[in-house]
Amino acid sequence: MASMATTAFHAATAANRACLSSIAASSASPASCRSVSFSSFRLAAASGLPGLSLSSASVRGGFVRLQSDGVSKVSVQGMPVQVRADSSASAGPKSGSSTFKVAVLGAAGGIGQPLSLLIKMSPFVSELRLYDIANVKGVAADLSHCNTPAQVSAYTGAGELAGALKDVDLVIIPAGVPRKPGMTRDDLFNINAGIVRSLVEAVADHCPNALINIISNPVNSTVPIAAEVLKAKGVYDPKKVFGVTTLDVVRANTFVAQKKNLRLIDVNVPVIGGHAGITILPLLSKTKPTVEFMPEEVEELTVRIQNAGTEVVEAKAGAGSATLSMAYAAARFAESCMRGLDGDSDVYECAYVQSEVTDLPFFATTVKLGKKGVEEIVGEDLSGLTEYEKKAVEALKAELKGSIEKGVQFANKQAAAV
Ligand SMILES: NC(=O)c1ccc[n+]([C@@H]2O[C@H](COP(=O)([O-])OP(=O)(O)OC[C@H]3O[C@@H](n4cnc5c(N)ncnc54)[C@H](O)[C@@H]3O)[C@@H](O)[C@H]2O)c1
Repeated sequence: MASMATTAFHAATAANRACLSSIAASSASPASCRSVSFSSFRLAAASGLPGLSLSSASVRGGFVRLQSDGVSKVSVQGMPVQVRADSSASAGPKSGSSTFKVAVLGAAGGIGQPLSLLIKMSPFVSELRLYDIANVKGVAADLSHCNTPAQVSAYTGAGELAGALKDVDLVIIPAGVPRKPGMTRDDLFNINAGIVRSLVEAVADHCPNALINIISNPVNSTVPIAAEVLKAKGVYDPKKVFGVTTLDVVRANTFVAQKKNLRLIDVNVPVIGGHAGITILPLLSKTKPTVEFMPEEVEELTVRIQNAGTEVVEAKAGAGSATLSMAYAAARFAESCMRGLDGDSDVYECAYVQSEVTDLPFFATTVKLGKKGVEEIVGEDLSGLTEYEKKAVEALKAELKGSIEKGVQFANKQAAAV
């Protein structure tokens, strides 16, 4: 029998870890799985991995501990997670010691609240700062009762923004107005562009080294706005500014798994381009595991993934846009960022970042996340495309170019007016 070392699976509960510890399937092994029941959750663990002994799993002090003799990948509630031996030098928070300060700007909103809950459950977080122009104290008081390590504090209004941001490692921005029926993402531009600009100015002043995850739409424009603001402040690091497109990947994985009757845990569809309408391009030909699509299936799935936000907007009938799935996706992305910061060596996510993979200055592809943010942009996403995908890339570039320019112009016009 393999020698056993204790492996800690760092989670406040397995359920939250399931939300938070996804590994991009490009780095996850699609191993066959079996399920083991714990008191209040199910742990589906990959079988056949060296040294992993599920029979000795136990829950202790909020952490799931598994007996293992090395690094292994397992999955929890459909999401692949990584489990490391306590003795591994590159392991994440080894005994649950929390290591990062995270600020959520717009924390009282439809996305902000569930996102803050999921972040509160992350073992990577020592401090969770909640900021909103609306009263966020109640959200913080409520979350502070969860017995997970992150310390929660509330900051309301512009006068308290500096305190919310001071020395944080990761800033997540879901502040802004959501889309209502009949609105396009670009309709939101003028309101949300101004909100993102002023929040990123404060980030530049108070935590210039932080990673920034931008959720506020239109992401295709708000990310270039953030970049211009940071450049004007002399603190722009393109490796640290991300447009969060994870929801497109989450949706693509879900819809493809449903359509092809695959297990969700196995499915990964890279989604490239941008984050609005036809700029969202799921690369179905690069779906893992390999699966054949009829041309009409490609068309149907692509259009559904591109318009999935509208499905939710219409179903909510005036009560906002995607909030819960977005919070889930943003929490997954934030967790991946923190795993990268923590030195994990195999963290991959799709994100909208400054990039040279096309002639556009910003483009979403798979990126490798590391200690300084983007460690590598995975340009292979764009090689070996089908004719359908090649045409779609050309078509999206024109629209994306316009959105990028709109953002840059907005930021520069504002700067000139100051
Ligand atoms: N990237 C994505 O995939 C994605 C998906 C869904 C929604 N969104 C976008 O996320 C944003 C938020 O959506 P929501 O449904 O949570 O909206 P919401 O209206 O429920 O919440 C927005 C919150 O932002 C706050 N806010 C407004 N101005 C602020 C400021 N200057 N500083 C701090 N907080 C401020 C509001 O008080 C509110 O609490 C929208 O722009 C929406 O379009 C993005």
